[in-house]
Amino acid sequence: MKNKILVTGGTGYIGSHTAAELQKHGYSVVIADNLCNSKKEILLQIEKITGKKPEFELIDLTSPEDTQKLFEKHNDLSGVIHFAAFKAVGESVEFPLKYYHNNLFSLVNILQAMEKYNVANIVFSSSCTVYGEPDSLPVDENAPVKPAMSPYGNTKQVSEEIISDSVGAGSLKSISLRYFNPVGAHSSGLIGELPLGVPNNLVPFITQTAIGKRDVLKVFGKDYPTPDGTCIRDYIHVEDLAEAHVIAIERMIKCNQKNDFEVFNLGTGSGNSVLEVINAFEEVTEVKLNYRFAERRPGDVPEVWADTKFANGELGWVAKKNLADMMKTAWKWEQNLAEKKIF
Ligand code: NAD
Ligand code: WQD
Repeated sequence: MKNKILVTGGTGYIGSHTAAELQKHGYSVVIADNLCNSKKEILLQIEKITGKKPEFELIDLTSPEDTQKLFEKHNDLSGVIHFAAFKAVGESVEFPLKYYHNNLFSLVNILQAMEKYNVANIVFSSSCTVYGEPDSLPVDENAPVKPAMSPYGNTKQVSEEIISDSVGAGSLKSISLRYFNPVGAHSSGLIGELPLGVPNNLVPFITQTAIGKRDVLKVFGKDYPTPDGTCIRDYIHVEDLAEAHVIAIERMIKCNQKNDFEVFNLGTGSGNSVLEVINAFEEVTEVKLNYRFAERRPGDVPEVWADTKFANGELGWVAKKNLADMMKTAWKWEQNLAEKKIF
């Protein structure tokens, strides 16, 4: 058995795929989650995929005392992958303090516990949202961090600053991974995204419309300065993301970092428009999607995609899955949920 990794938010969408991937690589995994946006049954699903159920701690990481106790109990950790956070951009505009409280307090508590219990390595879930509307494309890691367009986005910027300051002052080491648009589900169809209520993001909205949970998908804007008038994003398969996390934590454990705080973009390096995503979905699933054009959504940037050369070169990681894989797995997951094969 290799090292033990604490995965906060590990029953969530990206965390569950990463926990499975870590176990596949022989790591021992402890998941810490308060289940505010996920289900405990995900642990059984991970067991079905990997043959092993991760250890689980039900904990709200905004509690400093409980976070300290977590580290006291698991005193043999080689690193932390910190996913736990709220992530709905629109909700963060409505309830900024809810977001600052959850996303920042939990991070500070984790870092303090890491210092106290001598755990050096933390991988942080950041986002392409820190780039705002980039000046040039593709956007690389040296592009300026723009004023945040939402409290959620600001929590990612401030979190990176908190981590950078903490690394500079002490014994911590970190890798911040800036995800572009994570989509799709595990190829087994056993884990995937579980949006509570009406989804904000495109792909869950597509699959929920196709399965009949939603009447119609609104395509936000058709007059953007892009080839087909709809926004362009860099969609990345969640299994590719999970693999990058394993590589990142391993890089730290093996002391292969070039700097104690490194930042990597995680995307495919190319963009697709909303209409291209819809077409890919229809082609792969042979399901006709009910969609119509609607007003632009406030805050949407016309186009963004990643320059992934740094991650490709330094991490030796390349996203392997294409848009068809993303649509196929997202659809399989939605069908499994509808047929109650999961819960
Ligand atoms: P998710 O909501 O599926 O997973 C987050 C998990 O954290 C959930 O299981 C939730 O119950 C848990 N959690 C939240 N607050 C907690 C707390 N105080 N204590 C303990 N557990 C808590 O989200 P996800 O899509 O898997 O995102 C994971 C991370 O990646 C987040 O930090 C998110 O901001 C970041 N991210 C996500 C995306 C995306 O589009 N999904 C893009 C960029 C960055
Ligand atoms: C994608 C495209 C929409 C829904 C968000 C966060 C970002 C990051 C990833 C966390 C856009 C269009 C969407 C719909 C649509 N998350 N769309 N109809 O906004 O690129 O990024 O998730 O860090 O911070 O902002 O993703 O999936 O919401 O939208 O037309 O019903 O689909 O306008 O062009 P986004 P998304």
